[in-house]
Amino acid sequence: MTKIGGVTLEQLKNTYQTPLYIFDEDKIREQCQTFKKHFKHPELKTDVIYASKAFLTIGMAELIHSEGLWLDCVSQGEVYTALKAGFPSEHIALHGNNKTKEELDVALQFKIGVIVLDNPYEADMLMELVNEKHIPKVMLRINPGIDAHTHDYIKTSLLDSKFGLSIQDPSVISMIEKLVKHPFVNFLGTHSHIGSQILEENSFYDHVRTVLEFYASIKEKTGINLTEVNFGGGFGIKYLESDARLDLKNVLPKMLEEVYQIKTRLNLAVEKVYIEPGRSIVGEAGYTLYTINQVKTTINGKNYMFIDGSMNDHIRTALYQAKYDALVFGKEDLKKNRLYTVAGKACESGDIIIHDILLPEVKPNDLLLVKSTGAYHYSMASHYNRLTIPAVVFVKDGKSKVIVKRESFMDLLSHDEHLV
Ligand code: LLP
Repeated sequence: MTKIGGVTLEQLKNTYQTPLYIFDEDKIREQCQTFKKHFKHPELKTDVIYASKAFLTIGMAELIHSEGLWLDCVSQGEVYTALKAGFPSEHIALHGNNKTKEELDVALQFKIGVIVLDNPYEADMLMELVNEKHIPKVMLRINPGIDAHTHDYIKTSLLDSKFGLSIQDPSVISMIEKLVKHPFVNFLGTHSHIGSQILEENSFYDHVRTVLEFYASIKEKTGINLTEVNFGGGFGIKYLESDARLDLKNVLPKMLEEVYQIKTRLNLAVEKVYIEPGRSIVGEAGYTLYTINQVKTTINGKNYMFIDGSMNDHIRTALYQAKYDALVFGKEDLKKNRLYTVAGKACESGDIIIHDILLPEVKPNDLLLVKSTGAYHYSMASHYNRLTIPAVVFVKDGKSKVIVKRESFMDLLSHDEHLV
C-alpha cells in the first residue's frame, strides 16, 4: 500500500479529495541538500538558485529559503510570491526575456540580488533607471549555441533562440563594455541556460567550456576580466523506470572542476559560479493523485481509463509528448497485464495523461498515482473547460499539510463581472 511521507494514498484522498498534487517534503529537502553539498569547490564560491517557475507557492519559497538556496524569478508574480513569503530580496535573481520598465523598477526598489538582462533594449532601460542610491548587480543572458539533447520546445540556447544574445553577435561585447563602464551598475558576468531535462552530462561540460572561452575572448578584446558566471539549470530527472538518472554527485563537482581548470589555464578572474536547477529540485518529489471515474474499451480494443483530472492539471504529455509512470493504489503487487490510455475530462482528443501504460485491471473509484509530476505541473495548470486547479499538499513524517487550497467554483468566478 503506497505511502508518501508516511501517509497512505487512501488517507490523502479521504482528507483532501482528488485530483491532488502531493509533495514529499523530505525529498525536496534532500535534493536541495544534494545541490548545496556537491556544487562546491575549494577554490570557487558558489550559490544554488532554485528556478521557481518549476513550482512556486508561498510555502515552497519558505522551504527553499530554509534550505539556503536562492530563488530565480521571471515575473512580478513570482517576485511578489517570494517577497510575501519573506524571501530575502538579495537572494532573488530576476530573469525573463521581456521585462517591462515597471518590473525593472520593482527590482531596483526591492534591491533584488541580481538582475539578468536579456538584450540591449533592457540594458538601456536599466541604465536609464539606476542612480547612486542603489547599484544593482547585473548579468547578461547569452546564448552559447549548445544543442542540448532535449525536446525542441525546451531547448533554449540555439543561436536564434528568443532568449539572450548569441555569443557570435558582436553587439554582446559592446554591451558588456557599456555595462561595465556604467557608474551605477555592478556588472558581474553572463548567464546562460542551454535547455531543460538534459540527461547527457557532456552538454553541461561543453556549456562551461564554451562560456569560459567566450570570457577569454572578452578579456582579450576589451581587457574586461569577468568575475562571476551563471550556468542556468536543465538537470534531467527520472520519469520512467527505464530512464537513466543524472548523477548529480558526479556532474556538479565535475562542472566546477572544469571551471577551475579553464579559469586557471586562461587566466580568468572567475571567482563565483551559480546554477539554477528547477525540475531536479521538485520533479521526482511530486505526484498527482487521481480517482478513476470510468473505464471504456473502444471497438478497436483500446482501453481508456478516465480520471477526474485532465490536461488542465497535467499539460506536459500534450505539450511535449512527455511520458509518465503510474501505479494503482492497493494493486501495486498485482500483475500488470492490461494496456491503458489514461485520459482526462477536457474536451480535447489530446487530453491524454499517459498514452500507453501496463497496469493491473482497474475499476471505477480506484486511485491512480502519477509519478514525477512535481515540476511544471501545478505551475502550468490552467482553467481550460472551467476546470478547477487541484489542492497541493506537503507530506512529511506521517503528517500532511495543505500549502495551496483546492479551488472552488466561487474562486473560479471571483474575477468575472456581469455584463448587465
Ligand atoms: N534557468 C533558466 C533561465 C530557465 O529558463 C530555466 C527553465 C531554468 C533555469 C530551470 O530549468 P530546469 O532545471 O527546470 O530544467 N515547461 C517546460 C520546461 C521549461 C523550462 C524553462 N526554463 C517543461 O515542462 O518541461
